[in-house]
Amino acid sequence: MAISLFDTARPWQPLRATIQERISAVIDAGRFVLGPEVAAFETELAAYLGVEHVIGVANGTDAITIALRALGVQPDDEVVVPSFTFYATAEAVVGAGARPVFCDVDPQTRNVTLPTVRRALTPRTRAIVAVDLFGCPAPVDELRELELPVLEDAAQAMGASLGGHRAGALGDAATISFYPSKNLGCFGDGGAIATDDGRVAEHARALRFHGSRDKRDFQYVGYNSRLDEIQAAVLRVLLPHLDGWVEGRRAAARAYLAAGLAEHVEVPAVPEGADPAWHLYVVRSDRVESIAAALADRGIQARGYYRTPIHRQPAMAAYATGIELPVTEGLARTNLALPMSPLLGSAEATEVVAAIAAVET
Ligand SMILES: Cc1ncc(COP(=O)(O)O)c(C=O)c1O
Repeated sequence: MAISLFDTARPWQPLRATIQERISAVIDAGRFVLGPEVAAFETELAAYLGVEHVIGVANGTDAITIALRALGVQPDDEVVVPSFTFYATAEAVVGAGARPVFCDVDPQTRNVTLPTVRRALTPRTRAIVAVDLFGCPAPVDELRELELPVLEDAAQAMGASLGGHRAGALGDAATISFYPSKNLGCFGDGGAIATDDGRVAEHARALRFHGSRDKRDFQYVGYNSRLDEIQAAVLRVLLPHLDGWVEGRRAAARAYLAAGLAEHVEVPAVPEGADPAWHLYVVRSDRVESIAAALADRGIQARGYYRTPIHRQPAMAAYATGIELPVTEGLARTNLALPMSPLLGSAEATEVVAAIAAVET
């Protein structure tokens, strides 16, 4: 049976007619940028996350750049970021004018920890970006001990929670991506910033519109970075279904374990108090190449993520001199994402595990 890595087309099919109606309504209203759909979605997402403010922006990368600036990051400040994450996390730090300082991660959760962040601190550190990697919330509460602003990059973690709080509500501010393959994906690019801090929200709101609060006076050099009305209309239809889809992902993760996956590869650890959203289900093995080949033979997609970690990327050379991140390097070589979607059932999970079990040790 062919099984794809993720499924961006099937989960929302039952909502197709409603989505088309809402898109038509936007077209009929003739208002396409920063209108009532964006305002309503911001309110609805804030209620879902349990935060005071949500600001829709053009994508999750801009969300990080804008949020860092709104948190007070200035040119040449240092911002601690993991290297084992999507490139955009660090790119957005440079976009804010700051210097990324790469830190290592925990081998089991694949997230930053208090000690890994602490090792990267200097007197110039102005903020920390904690990524909820693969949908597992980062230990943001523990990072508070460092008394620096924490930006939660929750791009991959919509629907997850930690200690009863939702991913996206854990940091001083959080950023979200609605890229189509994400847990809450729109039909193009989209992103958001979430925060309880009114001043951060106001600053971010101005930055997304060229640094202006009223479209007349320009306080900052900002960005043209707005969530559009059509994407907001789509997201308003999808948001009420997010928790159900995430439950489907959790059931798929349980099906992998029930099929015996942990006997063959290292499965991701779940930190105490965390309920991950399993954006990706990423295992670890020293035999990833042969496992990936065996899966491909059976039509099952699998992919190693971030094989070249960010601190080894050519564009980041200026920020990576002398940096050694052994856990990141090891994970980059040995991780493999298995198929994951809200609709992945136990028959598919069993097939994936059987293919892995058949690989010669
Ligand atoms: C961890 C992480 N941060 C940031 C981003 C950037 O989001 P976007 O693609 O919406 O710019 C992504 C995804 O693409 C991501 O996975």
